[in-house]
Formats: sequence, C-alpha cells, structure tokens
Amino acid sequence: MSGAVPDAPAAPLGKPLAQPLGPVPGPADAAHHLLTVRDLIRWSCSRMAAAGVALGHGTDSLRDEATWLVLWALRLALDDPEPHLDARLLPAERQAVTALVERRCAERLPTAYLTGEAWLRGLRFKADPRALIPRSVLVEALDGALDPWLPEPEPASVLDLCTGGGSIAIAAALRFAQAHVDATDLSPDALALAAENRALHGLASRIQLHQGDLYAGLPARRYRIILSNPPYVNAASMAALPPEFRHEPVGALAGGPDGMSLVARILQDAPARLAPDGLLVVEIGHEAEHFEAAFPGLEFGYVPVSAGEQLIVAVTRQALVDWAGRA
Ligand SMILES: C[S@@+](CC[C@H](N)C(=O)[O-])C[C@H]1O[C@@H](n2cnc3c(N)ncnc32)[C@H](O)[C@@H]1O
Repeated sequence: MSGAVPDAPAAPLGKPLAQPLGPVPGPADAAHHLLTVRDLIRWSCSRMAAAGVALGHGTDSLRDEATWLVLWALRLALDDPEPHLDARLLPAERQAVTALVERRCAERLPTAYLTGEAWLRGLRFKADPRALIPRSVLVEALDGALDPWLPEPEPASVLDLCTGGGSIAIAAALRFAQAHVDATDLSPDALALAAENRALHGLASRIQLHQGDLYAGLPARRYRIILSNPPYVNAASMAALPPEFRHEPVGALAGGPDGMSLVARILQDAPARLAPDGLLVVEIGHEAEHFEAAFPGLEFGYVPVSAGEQLIVAVTRQALVDWAGRA
C-alpha cells in the first residue's frame, strides 16, 4: 500500500492512536494571514469540520460548501471557481468571507438561508426560513427518470401538493411547457415565498397558488399528474435532526411516528383528484421501509434518481382505486 497515511509509522504500543486536535484558528487570524480564494476555501473546510457542521442542503462535501460560501461572498459565479483560486483578496473581502463562514459555524445556519438563494438542477430559487430549502429529488426525476411513467400525451394539468417555496411547481411548468400548474400548501409563509419564486421565473400566468390542508384549497379540477414532496421524516429521525435542519419549518419535515401520516392522506384522496389515466408521484426520502409497511398490497414503482433507487414512488390512479377496493 502507498500513501502518507497507510505508510506512517504505527503509534508505540500502549499510546493512544488519536491525539486530540487543537482548535482551528478563528476568522480574525484567517482574514489577517490568508491571502487567496484557495486559502479561504481551505480554511473554511477546516473551520467547518471543527464545528461539525451538517450538510445536505445542496452540497454533500465540505469543499463544495466552502466553495459556495466563499464565491458567494465575493460575488463570483458559483459554478466556476477555477479562474479565481489563486487570486489574492483585499482585506475587506477576506473579512466578508470569514464573517460569513463564521456565521455558518456558530449559528449552524444552512448556507442557502445565509445567502438567500438555493440552486437546484441549474434553477435559482429564493430561500429563507419561511419554507424548506429546495432540494427535492423530484426535480431531477422530471428531467428524465419519470418519462416511462408519464401518460400520453404530455400532461396539460399538474398539481404540486405541499409546494413550499414552489420549486417543484416551477420545475414542472418548465418541463411541461403547455401545462397549467396548481400548487398548494398549508403554510401562508411558504406560499408568499413561492409567489416570489414564481415571479423570479416569470411563470405567474402558468402557476396558480392555493392555500389549504392538502387538497382542500384547490379548485374542482382533476390532474394528469400530482407531484408531492410532503413532510415524511419519522419521529425518531426528527428527534435526531442536526441543528441546520432545525432552522427549517418543522411542519415541512415532520411526518408522524413512521413518517407516513401525510403520505397516507395524500394516497387516500388522490383518486378523486386524478384524471382516469393520472399518476401520483411522491417523494418519500429514506422511508421506503415505512412506506412498504404502511401500504401492503399497493401496486407502485420506485422512480430511481442519482441519490437513490427508492426515494420516490409512482402510483397510477387505477392502482390506488384497486388498492382501496381491496382494503
Ligand atoms: C418537505 S416540504 C416540501 C416543500 C417543497 N415542495 C420542496 O420540495 O421544497 C413539505 C411542505 O408541506 C407543507 N405541508 C405540511 N402539512 C401540510 C398539509 N396538511 N397540507 C398542505 N401542505 C402541508 C409544508 O408547509 C411544507 O411546505
């Protein structure tokens, strides 16, 4: 085996293998001594590692998280750090970067809430604590994985149930260019943010927002596709949520003891809201075991995406009707 760590001499017998690491120098030191974009990305990684920050709101590595924070603070394009890595920064720029990273570490605020924006499959959304940070895998599924399930011809009526900040409704309106999209949520705060995102994407004429408990606020209309990323986090996982996730609205995450409380109501009432050839597509995250236990005998399929094979379920209206008939 080669490489610095495997070839390192073993610790003498009886001595502890792990030495406690000292603290990572703070923002004042970093802003004073470090010079380049690359330096600050490296320091941000060390500082965030020491603070134990949790990821999962748009990045899955400390390096990507640090790059996002540093480039955003410098007003540089987020997708192309390379040309700037060795650029030296002015003292005020270094202070701005280190202060932002320090808030990320000290307040454990997700980067999307610190910067006020989230990116999903190349789409930009406003993000703030009025709604969950956009990250639904349904948006990726709309780019292709869902195609084998879609009714022909392309749907002209789509519902985004539990729309939050509106990202799925917006992605659906862009994917189905002829479709009218209804989007609904219980939270007026989330809907206010959804309206801002709808305006950002110039989709006010194509997406209608409604407020109510699941289907309650909707017009009397049937949909070819219902998309939903409902609250589905089970109670044990809710109790163990890292601080970053506690900045998001609890009503956007908590799905009851097994995560399936809202999902069950969505499935039960979907047939009355779906066209005869309609399709229900629900994100269930890592709750596949709970889903299968909660709905035995239901005929459904998983829609695979890059993050996993069993994060999204698709169910036809006919399967829902058959299942209800057997229950
Ligand atoms: C997991 S978040 C999803 C938000 C958005 N669709 C996304 O993917 O970013 C779930 C959303 O469901 C909403 N919600 C919770 N209970 C609801 C209910 N009974 N009826 C309608 N919406 C509800 C929450 O307000 C929240 O915006």
